[in-house]
Amino acid sequence: MIEIIAALDSKNGIGKEGKLPWSLPLDLKYFKELTLKAPKGKINAVIMGRKTWESLPERLQPLPGRTNVVLTSHNLEESKNLLKASSLEEALEKLEKLKNIDRCFVIGGATLYKEALSREDCLDLYLTRIDADFSCEVFFPEIPEEFKIVRESQPFQDKGFWIYFETQKRKEEPGSVIWALSPEEEKILLELLNREKPLSEIEKRVLEKARSGGFTS
Ligand SMILES: NC(=O)c1ccc[n+]([C@@H]2O[C@H](COP(=O)([O-])OP(=O)(O)OC[C@H]3O[C@@H](n4cnc5c(N)ncnc54)[C@H](OP(=O)(O)O)[C@@H]3O)[C@@H](O)[C@H]2O)c1
Repeated sequence: MIEIIAALDSKNGIGKEGKLPWSLPLDLKYFKELTLKAPKGKINAVIMGRKTWESLPERLQPLPGRTNVVLTSHNLEESKNLLKASSLEEALEKLEKLKNIDRCFVIGGATLYKEALSREDCLDLYLTRIDADFSCEVFFPEIPEEFKIVRESQPFQDKGFWIYFETQKRKEEPGSVIWALSPEEEKILLELLNREKPLSEIEKRVLEKARSGGFTS
């Protein structure tokens, strides 16, 4: 099974000039939490295209605490936690052999997202929706109809932008949409915001208003 994690602007843009066109601390922490968290003795894998790999700052090559797999037809020296593959299939075969892999996240870019979305074993999408247009040049591919939104967080302010977190699942029955945070997600997000107490009623109302006032999904 593979899962996809991506951040999308209001026009489904994901990249510009070979980079992420934004730097949003809450989104980065969410990415880190989701892709790092694994049961004891296990580690998650992040699979990415060569251009996404090149877009990472050197200190994060490879992304720590995760087995990184880079898809490329070029040379790339393998090292601890860094594997090279020439196809998604080969990447998954290499990971299968490792025996200690818990979850396999496809982390971009567009080329790889498209291939992953077409696979029956791609079941979950974790999307960060950013309510702004960054004039991107690279876009998230069309999501096949069999994916359904099952969870949508409340909106959060991240460096002046409204963002929210959306989960989609393949072949989920209609009617199972949860328009709120699960207790686990709320805990993660409150930790990310360095908060212990739950959101106040006023905060909830402000967030609801922001959501109804302009979010596109
Ligand atoms: N917003 C987000 O969540 C997010 C996430 C990731 C990336 N991004 C952005 O997206 C942009 C990069 O995306 P991109 O689509 O242009 O490039 P990409 O998918 O990261 O990389 C494309 C390259 O990866 C290799 N590749 C991809 N799929 C392959 C496959 N199935 N089999 C074999 N090789 C494969 C090829 O490398 P070779 O040419 O070496 O053969 C290909 O040229 C950047 O701007 C990045 O910042 C955004």
